[in-house]
Amino acid sequence: MLKRPKIAVIGGGNVGASCAVWAASKELGDIIVLDIPEAEGVVKGKMLDLVQCGPIERFDSKIVGTTDYADIAESDVVVITAGLPRKPGMSRDDLVEKNVKIVKSVSENVKKHAPEATVIVVSNPLDAMVYTAWKTTGFPTHRVVGQAGCLDIARFKAFIAMETGFSVEDINALLLGGHGDDMVPLPRFTNIAGIPVTQFITEQRLQELVDRAKVGGGEIVKLMGTSAYYAPASGVIQMVEAIIKDKKRILPCASYCKGEFGINDLFVGVPTLLGAAGVEKVIEIDLNADEKKLLDESAAHVKELVELVNKLDPSLA
Ligand code: NAI
Ligand code: 2OP
Repeated sequence: MLKRPKIAVIGGGNVGASCAVWAASKELGDIIVLDIPEAEGVVKGKMLDLVQCGPIERFDSKIVGTTDYADIAESDVVVITAGLPRKPGMSRDDLVEKNVKIVKSVSENVKKHAPEATVIVVSNPLDAMVYTAWKTTGFPTHRVVGQAGCLDIARFKAFIAMETGFSVEDINALLLGGHGDDMVPLPRFTNIAGIPVTQFITEQRLQELVDRAKVGGGEIVKLMGTSAYYAPASGVIQMVEAIIKDKKRILPCASYCKGEFGINDLFVGVPTLLGAAGVEKVIEIDLNADEKKLLDESAAHVKELVELVNKLDPSLA
């Protein structure tokens, strides 16, 4: 019998619930959202509320809120959003101590209950939490990947669209590096419908938009006191769709590098071919010396965070 794809989201807070909304609206498959027992009523209530959008939005996906890991069995994709978000004045790195414990315990359950799934990690600090999930599940590297670049590049594209008045659909851009303020948007690879972006925006203004994108998460935290969720979830679902539909999309994802871009044994944001097998390839591009330096700095920061994770929990090393 044919079966719908199954998507499990661990953590039914702002990002997790928004993932369920985007996935349902695109009718990508059946959806399970799991939270801790203390949040049982909330997660069940949110998902029942979403079920009741079906007749209006026209989706037939089965949607369940749960606290029972048995419900994630046979998931094709598991999205991990469990963990604390940052508050004003905090960096993503300030979350590492609490979130490493949460992501480790979630990953143990994913390993047990959904051993064939591809895992997309969202919890921050992102690159180090992808590492934590990989080490804990023991899954092959092509089945563990992080979402950050889809969000970060969407922010950059949105700012270019706001600046030029052109459709977001025609803006193409590329971003590398970790999900920190040292992420690396690449102006040289940015175009609008194939036309170099500098035909429409001065280099100086473009740099200002790069700088705004780099701290785009912080801008939203300052405005609303907690971190963003609509666009992060939208980025996650872009990846889920690429995997479930085997679309072979090239998206900026935190993928395991084994020599690509000169980066070894780290999950860092790189152009990634996403399809049914998960990460099917890391696509290398030639960088100039300035771009390479920025990527190396960002990767060095990710490495420090991974070392911190290993110090906090030596069993992961
Ligand atoms: P939130 O506080 O709204 O939701 C987190 C949820 O995780 C809560 O419902 C909580 O009960 C649940 N949770 C905590 N421990 C759990 C456990 N052991 N098992 C299952 N569920 C558990 O936070 P929000 O805004 O949804 O953010 C979630 C995470 O995603 C944060 O770490 C945040 O920094 C990160 N984030 C990452 C982004 C990215 O692009 N990678 C973008 C936005 C947020
Ligand atoms: C963001 O970039 C906090 O990682 C989150 O919005």
